Amino acid sequence: MKLLSVVLLLLPLSICLAEVVKDFTKSCPGFFATPNDVVSPPTGFTGTQYKQICQTRNNQAEFATLYDTENRIPVYSAYRFTGQMKCNRLDKWHTEPELEAGMQDQNQKTCLVNQAENGDYKKSGYDRGHLAPVFLATSQNCADATFTLTNAAPQAAMFNRNTWMRTEKNMNDTLTKDCLNVGWRAFVVTGVVPGTDTLKNEGRVRIPSHFWMAFCCLDNNNKPKHSGAYIGQNNDNDCPVYRWSVQDLEPELTELYRKQFHNIPDFHFTFFAGECYTETETNELQIIENKKRKMSQNERNKDCQSNKRQKL
Ligand SMILES: *[C@@H]1O[C@H](CO)[C@@H](O)[C@H](O)[C@H]1NC(C)=O
Repeated sequence: MKLLSVVLLLLPLSICLAEVVKDFTKSCPGFFATPNDVVSPPTGFTGTQYKQICQTRNNQAEFATLYDTENRIPVYSAYRFTGQMKCNRLDKWHTEPELEAGMQDQNQKTCLVNQAENGDYKKSGYDRGHLAPVFLATSQNCADATFTLTNAAPQAAMFNRNTWMRTEKNMNDTLTKDCLNVGWRAFVVTGVVPGTDTLKNEGRVRIPSHFWMAFCCLDNNNKPKHSGAYIGQNNDNDCPVYRWSVQDLEPELTELYRKQFHNIPDFHFTFFAGECYTETETNELQIIENKKRKMSQNERNKDCQSNKRQKL
């Protein structure tokens, strides 16, 4: 009788828990592109602070996250894009008991050591910016699954609500028209580069310097057909986001991450195992910017990093 009530108590909680796993490419494999049959999460992140999470709701994995328990932000979230569907935002954020020693469920009142909590963001001036975006969620379960703090990083409000949202829309258009509509499968990975500051200067949650996104589209034989990437600066200067080729963004990100990981000189960032460079990567410069505020070149140079692609 006692056992039964314990089981019943645990049941409604356990159906909405994410799973921390040893190898998410095996435990929840459907979210990583497999160009030329190579399973390909971004590489370079080794160390015990990184936890692999299968983001699960109602017993179904919706996407995968690599979480940095030291900086208390994700490194990236990976998902398959299958088309955009309307679903309601519940705006109810949860945390992951499995990341904490001895924590049974998310209603238990304990101080979270290995992850961010709502209190860290409160009055910090930063949004809880989604990595796997709720905007592109393909089902209500999936939308709910994105509202975990393990899928969020501090994002400047202007950047989140203007340019980055327009970037997500731009990618939705590209993936829908250029990949799904011609019968290819689309995979996306979204991540952040840790910056120098933390929320409220408390040292608990690191503020990213950049947000980035990359996609790889495959045909039925796992041949890479289309790819592209975006990167934007995470501040309120309203800097534009640039569309890059996957091949160009890899060395750029390697450089940015190396500044963070000065202890890992051979850090090398790759997207899609270096197997998704495609002829249809865009070669024209594409800029996504806030429609309300067009920037002059002078302003851009002052507030924002110059775009290296222009010099190529
Ligand atoms: C996503 O892209 C498709 C194709 O361009 C478009 O029909 C749809 O309205 C887009 N969704 C949003 C929310 O922009």
